[in-house]
Amino acid sequence: MSTVLTQPQETTAGDQIKALERDYVLQNYARYPIVLHKGKGCYAYDLDGKRYLDLIAGIGVNALGYAHPRLVKVIREQAALLLHTSNLYYHEYQGRLAERLAKMSGLRRTFFCNSGAESIEGAIKMIHSHGGRISPEKYEIVSLQNSFHGRTMGALSITGQEKYRKDFEPLLPGVKFVPVNDITALEQVVGERTAGIVIEWIQGEGGINPMTQEYASKARELADRYNALLVFDEIQCGVGRPGTYFAYQLAEPLVLPDIMVAAKPLACGIPLGVIVTNERAAATIGPGMHGSTFGGGPFACRVALEFLDILDELLPSIRSTGAYFRMKLAELQRHFQFIKDVRGHGLMIGVELDIPGKQFVLDALADGMLINCTHDTVLRFLPPFIITEKQVDIAITKLRKIFRSFAASQ
Ligand SMILES: Cc1ncc(COP(=O)(O)O)c(C=O)c1O
Repeated sequence: MSTVLTQPQETTAGDQIKALERDYVLQNYARYPIVLHKGKGCYAYDLDGKRYLDLIAGIGVNALGYAHPRLVKVIREQAALLLHTSNLYYHEYQGRLAERLAKMSGLRRTFFCNSGAESIEGAIKMIHSHGGRISPEKYEIVSLQNSFHGRTMGALSITGQEKYRKDFEPLLPGVKFVPVNDITALEQVVGERTAGIVIEWIQGEGGINPMTQEYASKARELADRYNALLVFDEIQCGVGRPGTYFAYQLAEPLVLPDIMVAAKPLACGIPLGVIVTNERAAATIGPGMHGSTFGGGPFACRVALEFLDILDELLPSIRSTGAYFRMKLAELQRHFQFIKDVRGHGLMIGVELDIPGKQFVLDALADGMLINCTHDTVLRFLPPFIITEKQVDIAITKLRKIFRSFAASQ
């Protein structure tokens, strides 16, 4: 008797969704095994109705959580008016958002695009244009070890992590990497050929590593001495997350870059990236030298304006709830030896372990909580800005339980 081989049957809606993604979607992501369906506030719900307290917020994007009533309202209104115009024409919201960003950042001019990597690409073009006008030899970019700037070829070229770059070489020539907060190394590497210095103010993917004020000041001084452009990548650490508009505003005295790039939370999930520059950096791009079909459309800009109005009200609680969260995590650190460090600013928090963190992420998922691990050993928390101390307490209770059962199993 011959055996008939049958394909395993996809039984639930969730199984069918996973099967379609397995069969038809590029297999570049290692997804967790849940299918998210909807959200409200700081909670996401899967297809079966299971609720998850979300402490990663779409990797720092869902700043107002899910279904925020004010965002839902403007999204509905604007969808019925105008989604896209292209940059051939004016619309009501781009100039207003640029003015707002200028006031928030202390810089002057904005270019609008759609993602973090796209904003970094534009910044690299500005650096090359700037250097090229001075000398054909002036194209070097100094960037930081452990940094992450995105997946496009230019952004990869200045990303200081070999694992992201190695399959795509050759990349842009002339990029030099220096260790974070090492002033001597920075002084040794910056010179006449340096056209730009790029700094991620609090490294995100690299494990929540904040810059020191002295380091930022030195970078500014060297950029001025050698006529290079100083770029701050605020894509993950900016737009309210550190408890200030931008992470560089944490430093006293203030160190202003020539160019600042931001994206993730700016339109709370509608793709939007920006390059915000002073006049000197803006002068590197003339008519026709750069552009973006979708960049700065009325939909994304209007949502961003609404978000920024709400952000003004939230900044104090980002600072206080962030401090409370870090204090509670530090308490856990006293109980569990495998926690080496708790660090961060505002609601950008890292818990460094001396063991891999992946299993904790899976345990949290099973227990109804979304967290993330970066750099293998750093649990990363980027919760929505609306998170409350009560929700932090819930998170801490779940973490304590997970850590306890791990400690007991050792
Ligand atoms: C600091 C930083 N720069 C750039 C990027 C790239 O942004 P995107 O994924 O929107 O292209 C990221 C994304 O995680 C980031 O964290």
